[in-house]
Amino acid sequence: MQIQPPVINIFEKAVRKAGKSLIRDFGEVENLQIQSKSLGDFVTSSDIKTEKILLETLQYYYPNATYITEESDGIKGSDETIVIDPIDGTTNFIHGIPLFGIVIGRIFNNEITDGVIFNPILNEFYWASKGMGAWCNNKRLRVSKRQNFMDCIVGAGIPHANRSYSNYLQEIDNISKNCSGLRRMGAASIDLAFVAAGKLDAYWERNLNLWDVSAGVILVKEAGGKITQPNGDEWNTESKDILASNLNIHEVIKEKLSII
Ligand code: IPD
Ligand code: CA
Ligand code: CA
Repeated sequence: MQIQPPVINIFEKAVRKAGKSLIRDFGEVENLQIQSKSLGDFVTSSDIKTEKILLETLQYYYPNATYITEESDGIKGSDETIVIDPIDGTTNFIHGIPLFGIVIGRIFNNEITDGVIFNPILNEFYWASKGMGAWCNNKRLRVSKRQNFMDCIVGAGIPHANRSYSNYLQEIDNISKNCSGLRRMGAASIDLAFVAAGKLDAYWERNLNLWDVSAGVILVKEAGGKITQPNGDEWNTESKDILASNLNIHEVIKEKLSII
């Protein structure tokens, strides 16, 4: 078992506190679902409330940090940057699907150095810090070792509503017919955590925000995986598109995605 660095202890305190409130709200969502009531406002308030709980704890320990948050304008500070997605996987949350994460990442000099993802329903606490490995509930994570793409399963973000982009069906076709199957988890953080855990062999998605992927990027790297953009270009904190995989299949999948 790895001793958690202080920053991860603080992030854990924040996500576990927020997780308690989110577990209650998840139960309520299931009730509202049964009563067929409108969920929109309830879930929006749940997002905002979760973010508030996270900020309260984090700002106590990091009063001078810059905060980039999904649900508010953020806070300009000095020191490091802390990125927050209070509920990554809101659509799953609304539908009572227990796959979503509370996500916090820390950035120094444009590099993600630490991150946590907490799924309060499955009680899975993922963390990673630069040079200290990637972990889930005290278990060390390693990306998969599969080499043969035909044996691999690949996570994808399938665009919906107005998020469509040209050639996405072509991408899906290129990947799916050459591997063991595609998975659409519905939460970018969970996709990346599953790549780090070796459950998914790879994952790609376009048009994401930094808060979706901040913690997942350091998890995958610390689990021995590779992160780039889908065309193989270096991924940085400004990038919108991401490809994560084990080292063995990165080139293969990159080739198959290099069509747009
Ligand atoms: C979304 C999830 C989803 C991804 C979307 C994100 P949200 O985050 O990560 O998997 O496909 O692009 O916006 O809205 O649930 O925080
Ligand atoms: Ca998100
Ligand atoms: Ca969110």
